[in-house]
Amino acid sequence: MNLEKIRSDFPILKDVIYMDSASTSLTPEPVLETMLKYYREYNANVGRGVHRLSQMAQQRYNDAHKKVASFIGAKEGDLIFTRNTTESINMVAQGLRWRRGERVVTTLAEHHSNFLPWLRLRKDGIDLDIIKPDKNGSFNTSDFERAIDSRTRLVAVTQLTNVLGTVLPVKEISEICRDRGAMLLVDGAQSVPHMPTNVKDLGCDFLCFSGHKMLGPKGTGVLWTRKEIEPLLVGGGMVEDVSAEGFKIKKGHEGFEAGTPHISGGIGLGRAADYLVEADMNKVKAHEDKLAGRLLDGLCEIRGVDVYGSSNTNDRSGIVSFTVRGLAPHDVALMLDHASNIMVRSGHHCCIPLMKHLGLKEGTVRASLYLYNTKEEIDRLLGTAEDIAKMVG
Ligand SMILES: Cc1ncc(COP(=O)(O)O)c(C=O)c1O
Repeated sequence: MNLEKIRSDFPILKDVIYMDSASTSLTPEPVLETMLKYYREYNANVGRGVHRLSQMAQQRYNDAHKKVASFIGAKEGDLIFTRNTTESINMVAQGLRWRRGERVVTTLAEHHSNFLPWLRLRKDGIDLDIIKPDKNGSFNTSDFERAIDSRTRLVAVTQLTNVLGTVLPVKEISEICRDRGAMLLVDGAQSVPHMPTNVKDLGCDFLCFSGHKMLGPKGTGVLWTRKEIEPLLVGGGMVEDVSAEGFKIKKGHEGFEAGTPHISGGIGLGRAADYLVEADMNKVKAHEDKLAGRLLDGLCEIRGVDVYGSSNTNDRSGIVSFTVRGLAPHDVALMLDHASNIMVRSGHHCCIPLMKHLGLKEGTVRASLYLYNTKEEIDRLLGTAEDIAKMVG
């Protein structure tokens, strides 16, 4: 991986140290150029016209679906473009026909986007079983063995937690699901952008992730599914036939993308997938793991800093949460910005149930890495965090 070349595609990095990629990633020049090209050269709607520009837009938009499908190793099923992971998960929650008494199993470490859609189903008589992590934020496969039973219709878990950076045993969970006849939804918002992904290996029925967290444009996300669900929206562009009696939905992604989609966004997301393939996802992961190890070890050595999650780097990723004793996480984040132009997220990270479980009322400071971060940036964060800790210590 040519780090210098990669960094030159993100001019914003001249001014800041960006360690908030779990929230949203930066967008490289080739993705921006691809989007501008659409607006400048073939700006037209998809699924509606026969003129030249419309055909060109349709072709590129379809190609983008194929690129993203190939990025996650999907040879079958439907790959639907959405606005974000949140929309993808809601499409599944609202798109399955539920019967009272059915169960959903999820965990306490989920982002609100993979928690609220299931919590809301309780009003329809759906039971929710919530598995708790241990004090390090790790999960035991045996807890899933116990929780998933014949009434469980769906298991919804994140592959990688956005607060603690813990990796969940998704493969094992998928085997338990298969044994018990339950479907598996994987929230890949934090995993798909950072590690090689193959839906077949994951063994899931639904995979949800965000384009904007994997170098794609804001307002892009993905739902991959190999199960039948009802579309969330109905309307233009998604029907084969309509009469006063009813309508017949188109096959494939078109049936789920009613209305004019985010065309430049979808095409830009396809370019982002290409960009990551060119960078090589194995190398992206290795680079991030190395940096995360350095960050984790360094933070653990600073007096007055508490680091959360597993200390075993094998079940972690490039997300590290910490606090500085005596300071609120928001204050630490502001100090990192003011002192060293370091951008990190602070607070509850849309994981209030987990924060309550861990007794972290004000949340944590979270540094999250990506392919464009460097060893020198990690050292800068460590140096600044040490100065901040000394100030209050
Ligand atoms: C694990 C996880 N799931 C879901 C989401 C929601 O993603 P989006 O805001 O793109 O819908 C996030 C966002 O941070 C996340 O980290």
